[in-house]
Amino acid sequence: MKPMYIKITDSQISYSNSENAIDEKSYNFDSNIELKQNLQTFKDSLSDQPNVIVITNPSRFLLKKNAIEFLGQVVDFGTELENIFHIPVINIEEKVDSDLLLASEHEVDYATWHLDYYGLDHGKRQYGQESMQTIGNGYFGLRGTYLEAKASDDNYPATYIAGVFNQLSTPINGRDIINEDLVNLPNAQYITFSINDGQPFKIDKSVIKESNRSLDLKTGLLTITLLIQLEDGKELQVIEKKVADMQNYHDYYLQYAINPMNFNGKITIYTQIDGTVVNSNVERYRNLANKHLVIDQIDNIDKTAVLAAHTVQSDIKLAIKTDLHYPTIVNPLYSVHNEDEIAEQRLEFNAQAGETYYFEKDVSLFTSLETKENVVSVAEKHQFLPSFADAAKQAAKDWQKVWKQEDVVITGDITAQKLLRLNSYSMTTAAQADANKDLDASVGSRGLTGEGYRGHIFWDELFDINFYVLHNPELVKYLLMYRYNRLKAALDYAESNGHNGAMYPWQSGLYGDEQSQEVHLNPITNKWDPDNSRKQRHVSLAVAYNVLNYFHLSHDEKFMQHYGLVMLLDIAKFWIDMSKLDKNTGKYTIANVMGPDEFHEGYPDKEESGLKNNAYTNIMVSWLFKKVGELINTESSDVLDNNFRKANFSDIDIQKLDDIRHNLKLDFQDDILGQFEGYFDLKRLDFDKYRKQYGNISRMDRILKAHDDTPDNYQVAKQADTLMALFNLTDQDFFDILSDLGYPITNHEMFINDNVKYYIERTTHGSTLSRIVYSMLLLKADDTKTAWKLFYEALTSDYYDIQGGTTAEGIHLGVMGATLNLVTSFFAGIDYRGDVLEIDPNMPEQWEEIDFKMNFKGTQFKFQITSDGVSIKANQDTEVIFIGKKLPLTANLEIQLTY
Ligand code: BGC
Repeated sequence: MKPMYIKITDSQISYSNSENAIDEKSYNFDSNIELKQNLQTFKDSLSDQPNVIVITNPSRFLLKKNAIEFLGQVVDFGTELENIFHIPVINIEEKVDSDLLLASEHEVDYATWHLDYYGLDHGKRQYGQESMQTIGNGYFGLRGTYLEAKASDDNYPATYIAGVFNQLSTPINGRDIINEDLVNLPNAQYITFSINDGQPFKIDKSVIKESNRSLDLKTGLLTITLLIQLEDGKELQVIEKKVADMQNYHDYYLQYAINPMNFNGKITIYTQIDGTVVNSNVERYRNLANKHLVIDQIDNIDKTAVLAAHTVQSDIKLAIKTDLHYPTIVNPLYSVHNEDEIAEQRLEFNAQAGETYYFEKDVSLFTSLETKENVVSVAEKHQFLPSFADAAKQAAKDWQKVWKQEDVVITGDITAQKLLRLNSYSMTTAAQADANKDLDASVGSRGLTGEGYRGHIFWDELFDINFYVLHNPELVKYLLMYRYNRLKAALDYAESNGHNGAMYPWQSGLYGDEQSQEVHLNPITNKWDPDNSRKQRHVSLAVAYNVLNYFHLSHDEKFMQHYGLVMLLDIAKFWIDMSKLDKNTGKYTIANVMGPDEFHEGYPDKEESGLKNNAYTNIMVSWLFKKVGELINTESSDVLDNNFRKANFSDIDIQKLDDIRHNLKLDFQDDILGQFEGYFDLKRLDFDKYRKQYGNISRMDRILKAHDDTPDNYQVAKQADTLMALFNLTDQDFFDILSDLGYPITNHEMFINDNVKYYIERTTHGSTLSRIVYSMLLLKADDTKTAWKLFYEALTSDYYDIQGGTTAEGIHLGVMGATLNLVTSFFAGIDYRGDVLEIDPNMPEQWEEIDFKMNFKGTQFKFQITSDGVSIKANQDTEVIFIGKKLPLTANLEIQLTY
């Protein structure tokens, strides 16, 4: 062990590698920079890095041992230091029998399985933490709010169910704007108390001495502990717990444990199903219509309440049932207090100082989307597990199964480990096979954690499915069925735009019609700018990519024959129609589209929006046509006849696939591939000028528009666009496509280096999806240092809410999935895109080991990767390619390789 003992005061950190010489050296805080930066500077100043930090300040706070008063604030230095040093931080008081190793291992285990927030935060930061601590199971998401909170500027206690959308219309500047939202459902998690008939307790910093909110990722249990001191000196400890049922996905369970620590008195517990809720999570949407529900019925008798409602436009019926139990509370007075839209229950009892009183609430949610019978009768009949303890035990077991399958274990970096687990956790709460098998839903860009982007489903699915497919291919099938079930809507959308085939909408909700807004509020100018993002027709390519990715890993012929192939053919038909031949050059052009870079909506000074020959789109179309051609050659004639009939696909179309895929146009300047036709005519942007003025220039579009300018005029990108195809495809496939298109590249390495360098200089990372894609591209370009930096920024993007408030509106699921995928596919280097697994690690020097399991074409693999070795075990005889060489594997025999 290499410990560093430290003592923290307002002005400095004194440190030493010996417990007895603590004042040996010191680091003086620089008051001009933030604490986080100070700790980073401190770390950078150390010549020898420790592997455990021991804080010698005595523990003064009950709920966090390393919370320290610092410049008038209480700061959780344990977590702050762990986030910078990525090693365990313990307190001297925990060093039981001077066993540092044991204490340190214990902390590694704790820190890598818990997402904790000590203390209360405010505004968007608090909202963001609630998004991060959402519990759920793919069916519903319940934000990690204090049970006592109602929607306010600091708290937002929302509940969402996958697929429950509703449309409302708002008149803006003389026109009706219709928005479809993922609906915030009645709040059944509300529980609070009052003392001696006083006012119900509200979350208020002035009476909360300590607060700790701890999400246990291993078991899915959220525990919130409050130490309260009321104005009259009465002290209480409240421990509130929430857990979602992973199997019976309708249910969640709450436990409220209240202890009047220094007084006897009357406690009244209040609990509600509050149907007055509206959608008000996103500040800039707040002046739009937001009341989506009509409450139909409230039955509130005998400790059971049922609230029934329906969505005003989509008419989704909904029933919420709650059961209360409190076996340890003796002779309570139970009463019911209903209001128009609220079912309230109260429980009064005389409490004794020092006793803990347990109050439990079971909640069940049903909608007419997944429940065929009358939702109210189903809710009424519903039976819960006997107690909270049973629910927590069962959830822990179910999560154990999840982790067995999808835990990506990192040795040597507790921050990365914690956040990768958080990502896996969030991926699972957003969707899981046990729920999604019964749902007609896919994953929205924010999962089920907030109302950002209104819960809509985007091309982000591609980034999520890259992860899901390795650990849970069955789930991917259910997600893809969401798209299949909306194929008709995609055909109609194409038709209404004068096209053949299937054109999936950029933003998809309940029906699969286009849900992108037509105008978007610019927070800098406070004006509504037109939003042309719907022209990102590449979303259909993402749908096709996902179908092919799933088929590649699962070989699910049945899916392909009944659902996948017809989707691919319909999408191909759309692109055939979009490709227009220039007879003079023999080249095809795809016009009137946008690439993933949302800054470019059209050409400078042109009235109409849309671009020509977006490189990403054209390359992916060529790739798709090649794949569809291959499928046509392998599927049986029966299957083809059937699907050709359904998609109205003909032999002429087969010929077109082949012709177009060899002749789509790309634009080059030397070896730089143009983002779209005409890109090289755009001006270069003086990034430094804006950086000086604004600091953060990631949303350059908004900045330029505020200067009466537009990013359309410049070579500036929000996120990876031109090179996205290199993220999706293997290098070999990418360069083969370029050759097929008539642009053979002789020096692949030079092409990658030059293009990555060129585009990263012009990218502001205005989307969380940008850094992670560039991180992978930079690994290809051998810039491991910048790749690591961008990877870490992507990994921590929601944790630090690096976009300054967007996590408040929900976590960003795409970057979470992509980050996990980068670790397994590129750092560990297990590339699953070919016919056999290809192994070529790029192990970061900061990590000691990466361990994980994955499925590949029906075989279960287990990998352990270190800086110089790989160990592999497969559950069937198979083969892999290890750094370019074929290698047979025997079933269940672990082999160790060095590289
Ligand atoms: C990104 C898109 C993404 C969307 C939803 C936008 O900011 O530019 O690529 O699909 O967010 O996550």
